[in-house]
Amino acid sequence: MTQMIAMLAGDGIGPEIMTEAEKVLNTLKSDFGLDVELEHALVGGAAIDATGGPLPAETLELAKKSDAVLLGAVGGPKWEPLDISIRPEKGLLGLRSELNLFANLRPAILYPELANASTLKPEVVAGLDILIVRELTGGIYFGQPRGIRTNENGEQEGFNTLVYAESEIERIARIGFESAQKRDKRLCSVDKANVLEATEFWRNVIDRVAKDYPDVEVTHMYVDNAAMQLVRYPKQFDVMVTTNMFGDILSDLASQLTGSIGMLPSASLDENNKGMYEPSHGSAPDIAGQGIANPLATILSAAMMLRYSLNRADLADKVEAAVSKVLQDGLRTKDIAGDGGTEVTTVEMGDAVVKALLAG
Ligand code: IPM
Ligand code: MG
Repeated sequence: MTQMIAMLAGDGIGPEIMTEAEKVLNTLKSDFGLDVELEHALVGGAAIDATGGPLPAETLELAKKSDAVLLGAVGGPKWEPLDISIRPEKGLLGLRSELNLFANLRPAILYPELANASTLKPEVVAGLDILIVRELTGGIYFGQPRGIRTNENGEQEGFNTLVYAESEIERIARIGFESAQKRDKRLCSVDKANVLEATEFWRNVIDRVAKDYPDVEVTHMYVDNAAMQLVRYPKQFDVMVTTNMFGDILSDLASQLTGSIGMLPSASLDENNKGMYEPSHGSAPDIAGQGIANPLATILSAAMMLRYSLNRADLADKVEAAVSKVLQDGLRTKDIAGDGGTEVTTVEMGDAVVKALLAG
């Protein structure tokens, strides 16, 4: 049966990188028997400009009825003056929450060809393979109450709420443990249990759930130490599980270990493995329209989509192999050009992946 993919390009470099991912998907359709239909819709700033809001009802409806969502990126300076409740980012957060995409998987893998593209010494990052499991629909991103108000001294104050229900912690913990079981069987839970009750509770729930996974070695780390350990000796980590905000921060940090945030895909899944797939990077308005954005994170996100939501691990392997091939061939977009190789544009990189796919 034909599966439907919602294609949401968004803003900044979003449309450029999505065009390249679409080429790859169309090649899988024409030459590898992938039976999908691609439907486009607006999200983020592009949707604000066209409809007045970052997540139009049609887009949400399309995302809900699709088998998977592929998203480029949202946001940009143009929409920053808007009220926070209707900014482009709310489109993304609305999709995550409306689709119950509580489990965000952000793998940080160093391609051997890019060992010199990292700002860290090659021996620190060579062979790096970390999976960050970030809770995505709770915590301080969604906690109520929130806002900006006048306090009893007549002064303005901003406030947010960090809250986690036991069930929210337990379900992301299980994703963390199950992911670790498929890998090196080590799970590091990251919290700030020495200061924040919400994450002291997080730690207790992790310890309780751990009893169901005796084959996984579980450790706990405070987030400040985790940030330091990630740049000191990142290879000590296998799977890290953490809250929405800590995961946001640590996944950007981890991406730079791999040479460039332009390489990192992500999957956001619900209970049934329905998911939204997006590069871990943002809309990079500073380089939009210049043809220099790296489309590989989006192409690798499409590979994750094939694996987790479309049940085509065979094609995911092929796409990932094609990406490795172009890197081996020395093709580099500007962000990963540090170690020499041939600098190519966004479009040339997409074309090269398609070519490698067809040749492989
Ligand atoms: C991410 C992004 C988003 C987040 C923004 C764009 C809302 O930084 O996916 O990591 O904070 O989750
Ligand atoms: Mg982020």
